[in-house]
Amino acid sequence: MNEKLSSIKQEILDGIEAKATSRATAFELRKQFLDSKTGTIGQLMKEMKNIAPEERANYGKEVNELKAWATDVFAKLDEEMKAKELKAKYEAEKIDVTMPAKEYQTGNLHPITQMRNQLIDVFAGMGFEIFEGTEIENDYYNFTALNTPQDHPARDMQDTFYLSPEFLLRTQTSAGQIHVMENKKPPIKILSPGKVFRSDDDATHSPMFTQMEGLVVDEKITLCDLKGMLDVFVQKIYGEGATTRLRPSYFPFTEPSVEVDVSCFECGGKGCKLCKGTGWIEILGAGIVNKKVLENCGIDSEKYSGLAFGIGIERTAMLKYGINNIKLLFESDIKVLKQIDDN
Ligand code: DAH
Repeated sequence: MNEKLSSIKQEILDGIEAKATSRATAFELRKQFLDSKTGTIGQLMKEMKNIAPEERANYGKEVNELKAWATDVFAKLDEEMKAKELKAKYEAEKIDVTMPAKEYQTGNLHPITQMRNQLIDVFAGMGFEIFEGTEIENDYYNFTALNTPQDHPARDMQDTFYLSPEFLLRTQTSAGQIHVMENKKPPIKILSPGKVFRSDDDATHSPMFTQMEGLVVDEKITLCDLKGMLDVFVQKIYGEGATTRLRPSYFPFTEPSVEVDVSCFECGGKGCKLCKGTGWIEILGAGIVNKKVLENCGIDSEKYSGLAFGIGIERTAMLKYGINNIKLLFESDIKVLKQIDDN
C-alpha cells in the first residue's frame, strides 16, 4: 500500500514538473488527482469498502494523509502560478514613462483658405457681409450686365470657358455684384469670395483660381472711401507700414477704374527685386461702379454711387508668403503647405 501511495506522490510531483505551466494547467492536474469522483485519490477513497475491516483504519489514515498533502501541494502551486501570471501581466503592461511620445501629424488649413479667412476677417471688421455666387453663370451676369456686351473688346481680357452659348464658368466674382444689386437695395456692403475660371496657364496664372469681390453702394461713395478701405486691407495683410497707390486703368464695369499698388513690404519702398525696383507692387483692380451697371440693376445712379474691387486670393497669398509659382498652391505637396500656417 505504502508503495502505491508513494508512486502517486511521485506521479503528482512529475506531473507538476512536466505540465503545470499556468493556473489552468495546474487546475487540470489537481482535478486529475483530487476530483472526488474521477480523481486518482478520490478513487482510493472509494476503494475503502473493499478493504478488509482490520486494515481499513490504517488505509483510511494513509489515504487521508496523501489527500491532505496533495491538497496542500496544489494550493501552493496555485498561489505560485497566480503570482507568476500576475508578474507576467505587469511586465506586459508596463509603461516606460521615459519613452518619447508618438508624434501625431496635424494638418493645417490650405494657404488659400487661410488667405481667404484673413481677407474675410479684415473686411467683416469694416461691416461687409458675405455673398457666395455660383461657379456656373450665364453670359448676362458675367459680362453683359457688367457693361461688357457681346463683341465688347474687354471680353478678350478674359479667355472664357463656355459651357453653351448662354452658360459659362464665371471668369470673375464681379458677376456676384449683379445678383446682389438685383436683390438688395442700397446701402450694400458685400464681399464675395469664390473660384473663377479662365483659359490661362503659366507660373502666375492657373485655369482655376480664387477671387474676392468687394462692393459698396450707398449715397456719396467716392474713390476716397475705396482708398481708405484698401489702406486698412494692406496694413492688416502686409503690415502696419503698407499703403496703397491708385493708377488709372480700365474695366468696363467701373468708371473711373484704377489699378491698385501696395508699397513694397519687402524693401519698404526703396526698390528691390520683388517690386522690380519701383517700390510698388500691383495687387488688384478696382473703381467706382459704372452708372450703367447700377442702372442695369435698377439702382438710381443719381442718388447712389458705388465702389468695387476684385482681389486675387492666390496673388495676395503668393506675395505675402513669397511663393513664386502658383502651381505650388495646387499640387497638394504637404512639405510646401505645412510651411504656411498663419491661423
Ligand atoms: N473682375 C476684374 C478681373 O477679374 C477685377 C476687378 C476690377 C473687379 C475692378 C472689380 C473692379 O470689382 O472694380 O480682372
